[in-house]
Amino acid sequence: MSKVLVTGGTGYIGSHTVVELQASGYEVIIADDLSNSKKEVLQGIEKISGILPTFYEIDICNKPAVEALFDQHQIDAIVHFAASKAVGESVEKPLLYYKNNLISLVNLLEIAHGRNASLVFSSSCTVYGEPDKLPVTERSPIKPAISPYGNTKQIGEEIIRDVVEATQIQAISLRYFNPIGAHDSVAIGEYPQGVPNNLVPYLMQVAAGEREQLSVFGDDYSTPDGTCIRDYIHVVDLAKAHVIAVDRLLQSKNDKPYEVFNLGTGKGYSVLELIKTFEQVTGVKLNYAIVDRRAGDIEKVYADTTFANDVLGWKAGKELDEMLLSSWKWQQSLG
Ligand code: UFG
Repeated sequence: MSKVLVTGGTGYIGSHTVVELQASGYEVIIADDLSNSKKEVLQGIEKISGILPTFYEIDICNKPAVEALFDQHQIDAIVHFAASKAVGESVEKPLLYYKNNLISLVNLLEIAHGRNASLVFSSSCTVYGEPDKLPVTERSPIKPAISPYGNTKQIGEEIIRDVVEATQIQAISLRYFNPIGAHDSVAIGEYPQGVPNNLVPYLMQVAAGEREQLSVFGDDYSTPDGTCIRDYIHVVDLAKAHVIAVDRLLQSKNDKPYEVFNLGTGKGYSVLELIKTFEQVTGVKLNYAIVDRRAGDIEKVYADTTFANDVLGWKAGKELDEMLLSSWKWQQSLG
């Protein structure tokens, strides 16, 4: 049984990936410092898979602790989620982001080097900035980062590319579009801490009566209804792509030691379209108001998923209505 270390494995995308890896027969070890997740997620994982993953409460920036973990386990692949991810916070605390997101990556690469472990890296469509052409392919130009968070993803990808070039390490970077939804069992899902930054968690809390009103950030963009367009993808579809990436690395199916894939559905929806779809599928009327634009927002971005579809044999299956019902089911399970 191959062993996979999932850093950030009690987080939102991490926990969904853990259960998919377990379902595919991998033994999963989780390392997470619980800075943005709860230990109870482990029980949620066990409820789905019947397997309680081995858990280490460690910060990946703590190299001796990570080395000790590798001394105890023969790790075949690392799926590296552990990172800080709030765009606004990264503007206020850039060093925190450069430290958390880059030192952890360098540590893992140093440790992986010589131990024959492969790496799957959580990247983001944020690397495309405001694209000149849509949909974005993996060859679309990388734009100067708008936030320190985005910059850590760009630099992270560059570090991996250089290290792969110079060593035997194999790696895949996955550029996520906008993950939403939760596991159908509602045993795991997203737990936003404090006021949610992202659209869907905020919308769900308004719909549940926990918050007064959703602010729609701007309706004067150059899009059909004036609101921003994103490519929303179900978190379980996203998680499944990680299993395929791990399979690919371990079976050395790729003749290229470093590859990058977009993970989206290929379809873009505006904020107002998303709200309308939510209202239609749930019958819940949402209290929202148009307010000023949010600084740093991208007008429209959605993926060309051809490369992932063809090379990984992966395709996101869930449509927006199913995804929103999934988020709503999760939200209701919290109440
Ligand atoms: N939005 C609102 N109201 C809200 C929250 C969001 O109208 O309360 C709008 C935003 O303006 C944007 C859309 O909803 O048009 C989506 O916003 P999110 O914050 O959910 O997602 P973003 O695409 O802005 O950001 C996400 C991740 C970032 C990542 C970025 C690009 O949260 O970490 O995708 O990968 F950098």
